[in-house]
Amino acid sequence: MNTKDLLSISDLSPDDIGRLLSDAVELKARGWNNSLSGKTLALVFEKPSLRTRVSFELAMKQMDGEALYLSPAEVGLGKREPVADVARVLSRFVDVIACRTFGHETLVQLAKYADIPVINALSDLEHPCQALADILTIYEKKGDLKGLSLAYIGDGNNCANSLLLACAMTGINCRLASPKGYLVDKDLFARAEAYAEDSGAELYSGTDLKTALRGADVIYTDVWTSMGQEAETEKRLKDFTGFQVNAKLVSMAKKDAIIMHPLPAHYGEEVDREILECPQSVIFDQAENRLHAQKAVLRDMLGGLEIGGRH
Ligand code: CP
Repeated sequence: MNTKDLLSISDLSPDDIGRLLSDAVELKARGWNNSLSGKTLALVFEKPSLRTRVSFELAMKQMDGEALYLSPAEVGLGKREPVADVARVLSRFVDVIACRTFGHETLVQLAKYADIPVINALSDLEHPCQALADILTIYEKKGDLKGLSLAYIGDGNNCANSLLLACAMTGINCRLASPKGYLVDKDLFARAEAYAEDSGAELYSGTDLKTALRGADVIYTDVWTSMGQEAETEKRLKDFTGFQVNAKLVSMAKKDAIIMHPLPAHYGEEVDREILECPQSVIFDQAENRLHAQKAVLRDMLGGLEIGGRH
């Protein structure tokens, strides 16, 4: 990777994504290895997590490295001490930081002051590690990326932002249908369009479900109310009426469309429980791929030299 930090999918080039995907496939097949012997990751989390925390911790363990989990109460990013000081202290102790935070600006500050790589483990703006696992899952299930069509139904949130950029870079047509007021950010969509000019991907962001779902190979949804937005729950439930991924919506896509969700799901809101239990659903492969995609990122960032192996 030609970047110190991974704060946005845009920090990667399309070639980087291609290489990380093939590394993830290789690492998934190989399992445990000693690429990151002697390396340490600090997980600085301001929000709860199952998949991100477990997959980062196991990625380090399975490559012979170490991970330290620092909970919100322990670090107090910007509260107990300034973000810039946390960055400089951790730079003296560990080799890489993965941070889950509310405001993306916290990550930008962390990366600015840290001498070591900083990985976005979810911010209000992006979730790049999720998008890499998503693209890996699509590749595994469909055998290709270019020319496929993905329908994203729901909130134009951090997952949608990273997924849109990743699709635009890899040539996946990405059509997002969201209620008025919840579309992906206009500037980010413009950035995705610039990538799409090179990759040939067709992009759409609007309120029309049919436009998004027609001919879709992949149906993707995420929660309507993200962590930190709980006060808006009632309003959002009303505003997102008609955008639930259920049997009716799924029937508008291709018959063999796969169904994706980053989890955790709010069953009965953005998705019908039966839909995520049906054979088209790939949600648990998608969750597992967090581990393999992050292994590829960590190994690349830390220049893992495997004893007796490649890289
Ligand atoms: N998808 C995801 O990031 O899950 P967690 O919030 O459990 O880490």
